[in-house]
Amino acid sequence: MHHSISSVTQNANTMSAVWSDGERTVLPYLWLRDNCGCSECRVVQTTEKRFHLYSVPGDLGPRRVSIEHPGSADEAIAIDWPDGHHTHYPTTELRGLLTLPTVDLRYWDGNFQPARFDYRQFLASDSAAAELIEEFLRTGVCVLVDAPTEPDSSEQLAARLGPIREVLFERIHNVKVDPKGYNIAHTTLAVAPHNDFTSYSWPPNVQALHMLVNECEGGESTVVDGFGLLRELRTDHPDKFDVLCRVPVPFRIFSHEYECYAVNPMVELDSNGELRMLRFNTAQMQAVPLSEPRLTAFYAAYHELSRRVNDPGAQATFRLEGGHILLCAGHRVLHGRTAMLSSGHRHLQDAYFEHDNVRTHLRLLRRAGRM
Ligand SMILES: [Fe+2]
Ligand SMILES: [Zn+2]
Repeated sequence: MHHSISSVTQNANTMSAVWSDGERTVLPYLWLRDNCGCSECRVVQTTEKRFHLYSVPGDLGPRRVSIEHPGSADEAIAIDWPDGHHTHYPTTELRGLLTLPTVDLRYWDGNFQPARFDYRQFLASDSAAAELIEEFLRTGVCVLVDAPTEPDSSEQLAARLGPIREVLFERIHNVKVDPKGYNIAHTTLAVAPHNDFTSYSWPPNVQALHMLVNECEGGESTVVDGFGLLRELRTDHPDKFDVLCRVPVPFRIFSHEYECYAVNPMVELDSNGELRMLRFNTAQMQAVPLSEPRLTAFYAAYHELSRRVNDPGAQATFRLEGGHILLCAGHRVLHGRTAMLSSGHRHLQDAYFEHDNVRTHLRLLRRAGRM
């Protein structure tokens, strides 16, 4: 549908535009001046902004506003500022600046199975890559199949997922049964759903769990939609949800060589109050200090969350074979595995990436029309 502006009204610090469908948009004068796209306000070579907001008065208002070519495809708002500067906004550009793109998250439970994608296709085909990333952004999880089984071959994923996010311990983390291992994953015990490196204030938020070989009985993989559970918890027990957002919890992972420790609430919200991050790692959680005034309420809430995370109905279970890579959105999806029942060889490697890089790779693919 072609949108045009039927009228503009000037107010003290803003003007209101009424669109042809009756919708109204408030345009603050400072916003209009700040986003001017002219060659004086931009670095021509890079299109980056060159204009600095301090260089105009805080109570800036236009000298004159007009609608050029009204109703046509070239329609634009033209603004003359008191210092003689001229700003020109094509209507189509203003429409594009109304909202930010959003992703519709799809929540899931234990009946879900992550979508599977061919590893070579993911690397070779832009449209296959875009398809995987779209699914990953929606559900927070997918599985690559027919991947190489050579150690450290997950380095190749960097072409699509961005550079590896290095953490303490190894750049690419080895998970196999090791009597000297520093982590529960190095034992044959079941590993309950958790996310990794809750002991960082910014844990890595994409995790590739790359199975190189799996000749072991048991050791099935499980994933849990942490955001799905938290959404339900927020509806069922808003007070419990709230206390999980507020009480700082220490997490720690350590070996002889390394120490990684940070104190943060289990649930973090963004500035819109939407879920940003879940930190859930029973093995690495440390004692919340007894001086915490909300300790009793926190424990009631943590108990409820622990019950929901460990409910088999929330856990999607499947087996990763050699050459399978499980991709998890680390701030949303918890991963774990069942106990190993035999001593068969099993070698998993973890590599971490950043969600921003994955998301923007999709933008790049779309912008370049490569899909
Ligand atoms: Fe883990
Ligand atoms: Zn300008």
